[in-house]
Amino acid sequence: MTIKTAKLGVISSGRGENLRYILQAERDGWLPGRVVLVLADQPDAGALRIAGEFSVPHQFLDPGGQTRQEYDRQLVDRLEEADADLVVLTGYMRILSPEFVRHYKNRILNIHPALLPSFRGLDAFSQALEYGAKWTGTTVHVVDEDVDHGPIVYQRPVPVREGDTHDSLKARIQRAEYKAYPRAIKMFIEGNPRIEGRRVVWKRDERRAEG
Ligand code: GAR
Repeated sequence: MTIKTAKLGVISSGRGENLRYILQAERDGWLPGRVVLVLADQPDAGALRIAGEFSVPHQFLDPGGQTRQEYDRQLVDRLEEADADLVVLTGYMRILSPEFVRHYKNRILNIHPALLPSFRGLDAFSQALEYGAKWTGTTVHVVDEDVDHGPIVYQRPVPVREGDTHDSLKARIQRAEYKAYPRAIKMFIEGNPRIEGRRVVWKRDERRAEG
């Protein structure tokens, strides 16, 4: 069996801890992929520093003074130059333009800190606490034109404990994310699934169904 590899382009707005675990999985030889470029829309994004620590090309792209389409065109140009074939969002807080999503159709992954479709949007931790949920978790999904919505690749549940605060729940979910994201990326690259409506269809399941 040939294991496919992928060139990953990462886009981030934030701390970049998920990126750190992805890069570590790559360094350990566990991830069948290579991060070829890290882009950020914030000059002080931790993701840029972490990319530097791992000697990965990285760049701040200033979103100021342009439309979302113009900005996303710049993102696409950089990702194309780097020859990225899979785009990985780690805490990227901007909504991607339909043009971007169509350009990388079914080749963009995002991680969200809840079990979608629950608690979409901002501060999924407070949403789960306020709702009184007993379980929440993390979801890795293919990005479509709607926010926190595309077909689900992988989910990992996390309990909400008595007395949890925003910060304690956030820390538990984010620990789960550091395992979930590299695993989901590996599954996605090796499994090369077909996207059918909302479903991510794995070839191994099709083979099993065929008997
Ligand atoms: C992660 O918890 C991720 O789930 C969340 O931002 C954080 C980024 O952390 N993303 C969203 O809320 C997107 N809807 P990181 O920068 O340390 O990887």
